[in-house]
Amino acid sequence: MLNWDDPLNSTATPAQPTKTTPAKEAVKTVAAQPQTLAASYASSTVLEGMSFEETGLELPNVDFKQPDPIEEALAEKAIEGIIRDEAETADSLTPVKASDKRVINGEADVNQLAPFKYPWAWEYFLNANKNHWTPLDINMAQDVQDYQHTLNNAEKHTYENVLAYLTTSDILAMRNIGLAVMEKMTAPELQIYQARQVYEEALHTWTYQHCIETIGLDQGEIYNRYRVVPAIHGKIKLANKRLESVMRSDMDLRNPDNLNEFVMAYIFFAAIFEGSWFYNGFTPIFSLQRRGLMKGTAEQLQYIMRDEVMHASFGIRVVKQIMLENNVSLDPKAIRQMWDESEAAEHAYAHYILKKPILGYTADDHIEQFRFIANRRARQLSMEEPFPNAQNRTPWLDEQANMRKEKNFFETRVTEYQTGGALDWG
Ligand SMILES: [Fe+2]
Ligand SMILES: [Fe+2]
Repeated sequence: MLNWDDPLNSTATPAQPTKTTPAKEAVKTVAAQPQTLAASYASSTVLEGMSFEETGLELPNVDFKQPDPIEEALAEKAIEGIIRDEAETADSLTPVKASDKRVINGEADVNQLAPFKYPWAWEYFLNANKNHWTPLDINMAQDVQDYQHTLNNAEKHTYENVLAYLTTSDILAMRNIGLAVMEKMTAPELQIYQARQVYEEALHTWTYQHCIETIGLDQGEIYNRYRVVPAIHGKIKLANKRLESVMRSDMDLRNPDNLNEFVMAYIFFAAIFEGSWFYNGFTPIFSLQRRGLMKGTAEQLQYIMRDEVMHASFGIRVVKQIMLENNVSLDPKAIRQMWDESEAAEHAYAHYILKKPILGYTADDHIEQFRFIANRRARQLSMEEPFPNAQNRTPWLDEQANMRKEKNFFETRVTEYQTGGALDWG
């Protein structure tokens, strides 16, 4: 039985003393059991309504000190100070106005949710809660069969390396939003969605781990691939560089250079890392799914993809708002360099994971699709398209993100939750 008070140390259900158990024996029974929640409850039920003497318990041996006149005088002074402070600050206390809030560098009370200045952020939080699942909800049995008996070596190589890249990436995404971004926000409606995002990134990591474990891959080897395969390492290194640039303790967003760095890192994570690399990163596995293979893994990734679409669009909206409120203008050369670096890293990655094309999907398709999605993110940022004329090589990819229930994408799912079937993913 799960002990919610100590879940890693769960035991069999302890014997429940009845009302007729003599008090001293009941206390002994409870004391002899591990201190589980159930035991504590049993104890409180038995002791309820008894005088202290009837319980047979002994008072702890406490050394009660005599009141110290100096300490008493200090305590009185402290109370007087609090009363005086209250009187002095009474005039300066004012309610929070929505117009006082700012995304960063705000002065309004961050512990008060409403009035909203950014009601769209709250809507993101509500919508995020409509895409709820755990990896255990999806049946992976056929995937084990497919991996062992149907996938060829090239397909196995692609499958394993996509998971190896994604699982490291999601930890980075979690650290970015939870450690580098959230603490800099000064409107709680933004932080609340970001708190959900932190959870979702952890859930995604669990999902990859569940797939890796269920298929029976060597965990130590898969998780280390990003450290030993240059093409995977290259993407992670770019992301780490951006993360480290904004996780410094001396970061001050009132300093224009620091703010610029923060905005660039935010754009990188929202538009490229989540909006392009993740969005496009699931495609090789979806291409297997379209041939009826690894459908459980693909369905897991469809749920993740929906979260990532929201992360990207939320991040883009936040960063645009920061730029507006703080009058930020970015260096076009730095933006160009960011797109080029990302494309080069994706190019190396695509040629590694798709050394040999898997049926219906090649490295060139992957790179072109990256460019096509990158253009979309740039438009959302109100920026110039970095790769004009890029072609949509996988027009079915957006359908995967939409995952309409009527398209029978839930065939492997074993539990029904409320999901975002009604969401408009535009
Ligand atoms: Fe994620
Ligand atoms: Fe994400």
